[in-house]
Amino acid sequence: MCGIVGYVGAKNCIDVLIDGLSKLEYRGYDSAGIAVFEKNKIWVEKTKGRLADLSAKLEQSSRPDSHCGIGHTRWATHGEPSDINSHPHGNKRVTIVHNGIIENYRELKKFLDGQGYKFESETDTEAIAKLLDYYYDGDPLDTITNVIQNLRGSYALGILFRDFPDRIYAVRMESPLIVGAGKGENFIASDVPAILKYTRDYYLLEKEEIAEVTAKKICFYDIHGQHIEKELNTATWDVDAAEKGGYEHFMRKEIYEQPVAVKTTITPRIRDNMPNLEECGILPGSLKDIRRLFVVACGTAMHAGMVGKYVIERLARVEVTVDIASEFRYRDPLISKKDLVVLITQSGETADTLAALRLAKERGARTLAIVNVKGSSIAREADMVIYTHAGPEISVASTKAYSVQLAVMYLLAFSLAYERGEITRERCMELTEKLQQIPEQIRETLQTEDVCQYVASKLVSADSLLYIGRGLDYALSMEGSLKLKEISYIHSESYAAGELKHGTISLITDLMPVVAVVTQSALVEKTISNMKEVKARGAKVTAICRQSVELTEDVADHVVKLPDVEDLLMPMIAVVPLQLIAYYTAVLKGCDVDKPRNLAKSVTVE
Ligand code: G6P
Repeated sequence: MCGIVGYVGAKNCIDVLIDGLSKLEYRGYDSAGIAVFEKNKIWVEKTKGRLADLSAKLEQSSRPDSHCGIGHTRWATHGEPSDINSHPHGNKRVTIVHNGIIENYRELKKFLDGQGYKFESETDTEAIAKLLDYYYDGDPLDTITNVIQNLRGSYALGILFRDFPDRIYAVRMESPLIVGAGKGENFIASDVPAILKYTRDYYLLEKEEIAEVTAKKICFYDIHGQHIEKELNTATWDVDAAEKGGYEHFMRKEIYEQPVAVKTTITPRIRDNMPNLEECGILPGSLKDIRRLFVVACGTAMHAGMVGKYVIERLARVEVTVDIASEFRYRDPLISKKDLVVLITQSGETADTLAALRLAKERGARTLAIVNVKGSSIAREADMVIYTHAGPEISVASTKAYSVQLAVMYLLAFSLAYERGEITRERCMELTEKLQQIPEQIRETLQTEDVCQYVASKLVSADSLLYIGRGLDYALSMEGSLKLKEISYIHSESYAAGELKHGTISLITDLMPVVAVVTQSALVEKTISNMKEVKARGAKVTAICRQSVELTEDVADHVVKLPDVEDLLMPMIAVVPLQLIAYYTAVLKGCDVDKPRNLAKSVTVE
């Protein structure tokens, strides 16, 4: 989604803005622009395309020596990616950048049309810019408070007023925004990596809060213009965590970070070989009487929920429903006070997941968020939070965030199962101990990289692929299929292996490769039968299976073998080759691996 950066200080503002925006590229975008002060005038440059296109345009222009300005990467929602629709928007008096969606922009446009304003773009953002101009009375704070009372929707805004060339204003409703505090220089940004090179200190702007940022001072105000004090945060990530560190792509780096990320996530939640979630606000026995669980999430996080469902139901014998957040929020779900709603989210800002959380709270259910980004909206609003400690995930295709989400689902499952009396303390300790061995086993599994690269070379020319599996392997194949399609643009679907013959098998020809996940001991024979069915119809089959499974040539053409671990824990290691196969297929196709087209890392709009 859109990225915002603002800078005021002694440095060359345009350089800082471009550098900051480059750290937000992972969020996904299709155009970019900046607005900076050239003495007392606002100077704007913007373009459709990548930051490199903006830089090229800047090279050809008479870029001013500026020390205050705002920048933006746009992910199109209203109006196609084009120069005109790119941000900043505004006029000579007030210019803005915006992240989010203004729901009542049509009404606003109509009103402003009536006031004689002419619109150039198709964006909702232009309505905010014009409304600011309409309300402008010489006092920016007054103007902003008047405008936000008329806006409906989600937004984070960076604003320049011509009459105040030494400052940036920022305001937030839903879409995330931070204010970075440096020495003699200050920043605004959509996310911490944009400012890490300059400072680790930042304020988290909350809903309906306004910031007034000059080089020397940062002041905060509430929606009524009253001065407020805010707490300063310090980022624990360092610059290296948000850089590629010698890897060609963030995605490969993040795949390799999985052993450490899982270890860092589980270690503080294990005491005496038993899961212990007290530091997350989950006291022993507090979830014992849960009637049902709902796991609500989007994309990869939802797939982590699918694995969680199988594991929790099998161990804790409690019913788990997994919902896509955008469906959950509109399906009038039957939730009650006795239910636990678990929200899984890397960013903690996904608009649909946030709306689902609010709905669950409204209906009285208890809510537990599994979140990677500290202080994010979902982490702050949920009753209980288990932070995953994956560090910053920059690649749009999620890898390490998935692994740590799974790890937390396992801890939750063990804990629920023990408290509900479904497993003994000994079994709980045994499972917890096995989970602690997983980081090492992921490391071992990373050695399949060469085989995965070879498999990718066989898949790269396909137009369409099927991923199949049963039980936990089916849940995992969903993630394998998503990884491949999102970064390599090869169509793929995941299918419950036993369901193939009820329709989808008609698609199978020698042009449709199949990836079969075969890790669940009790289901190996069943899945092998399904593999034979597709093989007999010409499909080339790649099997991801445990070491002990012997597969003959009439079953699989390529085999990726995994260390033998407890069936229930297999997804934690079997996901690795699925990630690597997707990665190498995308690399071989020459795709932009870390920034796939049309996708955004943090989806803050519906
Ligand atoms: C986007 C990203 C996915 C991610 C999903 C949910 O679609 O591209 O990688 O899984 O959002 O994001 P969240 O931050 O809620 O985990």
